[in-house]
Amino acid sequence: MPTPRQSHRAPSLNGTVRVPGDKSISHRSLMLGALSTGVTRVTGLLEAEDVLNTAKVMAALGAKVQRTDAGWEVRGRGVGGLLEPMGDLDFGNGGTGSRLAMGIVGGHGMRARFTGDHSLCKRPMGRILDPLSQMGVRFEPCDRRTLPLTVIGRSPLAPIEYTLPMASAQVKSAVLLAGLHAPGITTVIEPEATRDHTERMLRHFGARVDIELLPKGGRAIRVHGDAELEGRPVVVPGDPSSAAFLAAAALIVPGSEVTIAAILTNPTRTGFYTTLKEMGADITFLNEREEGGDTLADVRVRYSKLKAVTVPYDRAPSMIDEYPILAVVAAFAEGETVMHGLGELKAKESDRLASTAAGLIANGVAAKVDGDTLSVRGSGSQRPKGGGLVATHMDHRIAMAFLILGLASDAPVTVDDTDFIATSFPEFMGLMQGLGAVIELA
Ligand code: S3P
Repeated sequence: MPTPRQSHRAPSLNGTVRVPGDKSISHRSLMLGALSTGVTRVTGLLEAEDVLNTAKVMAALGAKVQRTDAGWEVRGRGVGGLLEPMGDLDFGNGGTGSRLAMGIVGGHGMRARFTGDHSLCKRPMGRILDPLSQMGVRFEPCDRRTLPLTVIGRSPLAPIEYTLPMASAQVKSAVLLAGLHAPGITTVIEPEATRDHTERMLRHFGARVDIELLPKGGRAIRVHGDAELEGRPVVVPGDPSSAAFLAAAALIVPGSEVTIAAILTNPTRTGFYTTLKEMGADITFLNEREEGGDTLADVRVRYSKLKAVTVPYDRAPSMIDEYPILAVVAAFAEGETVMHGLGELKAKESDRLASTAAGLIANGVAAKVDGDTLSVRGSGSQRPKGGGLVATHMDHRIAMAFLILGLASDAPVTVDDTDFIATSFPEFMGLMQGLGAVIELA
C-alpha cells in the first residue's frame, strides 16, 4: 500500500543537522570492499534500501558483510574471487547498484540473474550491455535491454577503450570495474566530467588508475587490469544530493536558517549549490576541509529572495539528481529559470523531466518541457498556489522535492507515495520535522 503525505506551509525552519552518508560512495565502498583482500571498515555508510540491497548482493556473491558497533565491515574475496550466487540478485529500486555490479559479475566466470522492482525493470540497461559485451560478457535473453537479465561473465575479460555516449558515471564505473578483471589497460573517455568516486576509490584501494585531461576537453581514465585491491577504511561524507532538499527548504521558507554538517563538496557534485548562488541564495560553505581524499564543508543556508537563471548544458552532470528540487526552488524565483541539457533525466527512477513538470503544473506553477530543456516561471514575491496531488512514479527524489514545495506554497501539497524516500534518505521525514516542517499522512 502506498503512503501518501501532505506538506503544509511552515513557519521558519531552523537548526543544524547531519544528513546520512553519500549514496554513490556507500555503494562503491561495499563493492570495492568485496573485491579486496582483507577487511574494509566503513563509517557513515548510508543505511537506505538501495545500499542495503547492494550489501545483500555482495554477500550473495561471497563477501562477508556485516554491521558492527562502529559501522560496517566487508571481508572481501579479492579481484576475480567472488562466487556464483545461489539465487537472483535483487537490486530493488537501485540503478547504481545494479549497473556497477554488472561490471563486477561480468568479470567472473559465473552466471547471475539481475532483477529489481517495477521502476528499475523499466530503466535502460543497454548503456551497460554495450561496453560489457565488447569486453566479452554475454547477456540472456540476448534481445533484452532491461532487467531482468542473466549476466554470463567471463574471466578474463578483454580490455577496451570506450567513449561514453552519454554523461554517465554509472556507465564509466561499470567499465572501470570490469577493467579490473581484464589484462592490460581499460580506458574510458568521458567527454564531460561526471562524478569521480570510482576513480578516487579505486586508487584508495590500491588499483593503478591514470587520468589524462584531454586537449579538447573531457578526460581519459585508464585502469590497469589484473589489479590487487586491499581492504581500506572508508569514511563516507554527508550526501550533497540529500542535503539539497534541506537547503532548498531553508531557501524558500521565510526566516529560515539551516546548517547541514559535513557535506561532500567534491566539485563533480556541487553544481546545484553553484546554481543557487547564481540565483542570489545566501549559502556559505563553512569549515571547508579535506578528509579521506575528498573535500567537505558545513553548508549554511538562509532564506533568500531569488532571481531566475539559465543553467548551462555543461553543468548537468554535476547536479543531475538535483533538477527536481532546483525546479521547485525556481518556482519561488523572480522570472523564468531555464535548465538545459536534461536528456538523462528521462532515464532516472522515473522520467524526471516529465514528472517534475507535471508536479509543478499540478500546483499552479508554469513549467514547460521543450526537448531536453525545462523552463519554470517563478512567482517571485507571491507564493505558488500549491494544493495539487503529485504522482511520484516510485521516485524518491520526486516525492521529496514536492513535499518541500508544500512548505512554502499557499495550499498544502500532497504526494501520492512517500515509501520510496527510504531508498535513499530514510531520515528525511524526521529531519524535516525536527527543523519545524509539518508533513502529515494524507
Ligand atoms: C550515480 C550516477 C548518476 C546519478 C545516480 C548515482 C553514481 O547516474 O544519477 O543517482 O553513483 O554513479 P548516471 O550515471 O546514470 O548519470
